Order: sequence, then C-alpha cells, then structure tokens
Amino acid sequence: MSGAKHHKAVYGFPECETQARALAAVLRCPYFSVALHTFPDRETLVRIEQGADEAILFRPLHHPNAKIFEVIQAASAVRDLAADRITLVAPYLPYMRQDKVFRKGEALSQKIFAGVISPWIDRLITVEPHLHRSHTMESIFPGIKGSALSGAVPLAAYFKGRGIEKNTLVIGPDEEAFHIARPFAEALGLDWITALKKRRGDRDIKVTLEGSALTGRPVLIIDDVISTGMTVIGCARAALEAGAASVSAAVVHALYDEQAAKAFKAAGIAPVVSTDSIPHPSNAVVLAPYFAEALG
Ligand code: R5P
Repeated sequence: MSGAKHHKAVYGFPECETQARALAAVLRCPYFSVALHTFPDRETLVRIEQGADEAILFRPLHHPNAKIFEVIQAASAVRDLAADRITLVAPYLPYMRQDKVFRKGEALSQKIFAGVISPWIDRLITVEPHLHRSHTMESIFPGIKGSALSGAVPLAAYFKGRGIEKNTLVIGPDEEAFHIARPFAEALGLDWITALKKRRGDRDIKVTLEGSALTGRPVLIIDDVISTGMTVIGCARAALEAGAASVSAAVVHALYDEQAAKAFKAAGIAPVVSTDSIPHPSNAVVLAPYFAEALG
C-alpha cells in the first residue's frame, strides 16, 4: 500500500540489498529500497516512498564519501515521513582510524565524521569498529545511542558450528588484534597469540612471531579488517616459516580486492572467511541475527 506508515521498517541501499533484506526478514518487518538517482553532474538524490515510526537505515559505509551523504539524505527523508526513531545500522563504520592527530596539520576525521552523521540519527549500530584509543561509541558520536557489536562472537559461532581442529593456534597479526583474537579463541577453547607488526607504508608491512610453538599446528589468523591483505600475508609467511602446518584466516570486514585474494592463494592462505559486514565473495557469516538482537 503506497504511502502507508509502518511501525518498523528496514531501508536498504542498492549494493547491500541482500544483507538489508536479511535483517528485515529476521525482524519480520517490511523492507524498502532507497531509490538513488544520479544526475549528470554526479549529484545524487535519495527517494523513499513509505514511512515508518521506527526507521532502520542499513548500509555498510566502505568507500564512504558519497554513501555518507546519501545516508544523511535518507535519514532526512524518513524523518520528513514522520519517523519517531531513526537507527543507522552501518556494519562497517568508516573514519575510525584517525582518532587522533598523528602529524600536525592532519584533520581529525573521526570527530568530523561523527559530527556530520550524529545530528541525523538517534542510534548507530555497527560491528567491531576501530575503538582502540576512543573507547566508547558514546564518546565519539555525541547525543546518540551507539552499539558496537563484537565481530568475535559471530565468527566463533561459525567455527563452532563447523568444527575446528583442537590444536589450532589463533593469531592476531598485531598487538591491537588481541581485542578480537582473545574472545574468539576463548569462545572456541583454542590457544592464541598476537604477532608484532611494523608498518612502514600502506603496503610495506613486516610481521614477526616471537617464541611461539607453531610446528605442525594449523594456524588461523583473525583480524578486524583486511584491506590490502599485506598484514595477513606477512603473518602467514612468518607462521609458515615457523613451521605451521596450514594457514587460514577469518576477518570481520573484508575490504580486499581480487588481486589480494589471488595473493592469499599464492601465499598458501586458505580458506579466508568473513562476515557479511561488507558484501564480498568471502562472506560466510550472516550478521542479521546479531543486528536484530541489538535492535531489540
Ligand atoms: C590494523 O589496525 C587493522 O587491524 C588491520 O590489521 C589492517 O587494517 C589490515 O590492513 P591491510 O590488509 O592493508 O594490511
């Protein structure tokens, strides 16, 4: 019924329709597509046909710049259609890395992004954001309710369901990765360690493993993000040199391209599984039930 107002609805963007529809199915509420029109000068216009009291906007915000502005347009449109509450489910949240000014003159992009998006929404739900120095969503996103879901929980549930060799060693490829490696390994009753990573450039990474008993063991590398893939490749090389029997990987946010996927194969890393926080060929873990639980 065109123009009717619903109690609750999920609104999805074209590139993430499968994931947004999955959330609507778990929530047992209607799904509506956000229509996007691109003008010849590449401006975009968002159009939403049906309103809901509780509007749930769904969009992973990788390759973020245009998407952020379109999400803001969608939030404005659902508010104009009389939404009482607007939740943005952004399975991948961008601009979390730059949470401090590392070099004089740089922009504090995390704070800028938070200031831009927060006035338009009431709640923000994401998975495994980069919260390494700013510790809570509330401290980053002023005036809105924020929820950062664990990526370790769904990934561990996936491996629990499939079974995993008991002597598998879980490796977080840098010291920060203990946030995910530890809860993941503990949920599965596996040993875990973190590696030491030195990043000398976007693609220039050296990973070392110190004093770990790897000989003959399967290794599972787990990380929050794979982007260029160089971190996982560096870690896999170090593990294989130390005698690991095999190397596989699990990741929350699969940002990597086909070239990186080929490089994983060449480096002997298989399989690589990811959550569907970003639509990707490696997706194996559906996050919709976890978002539905957070939405209550
Ligand atoms: C770093 O803090 C992250 O946890 C990942 O290790 C990193 O973003 C992976 O990047 P790449 O795949 O480009 O090495």
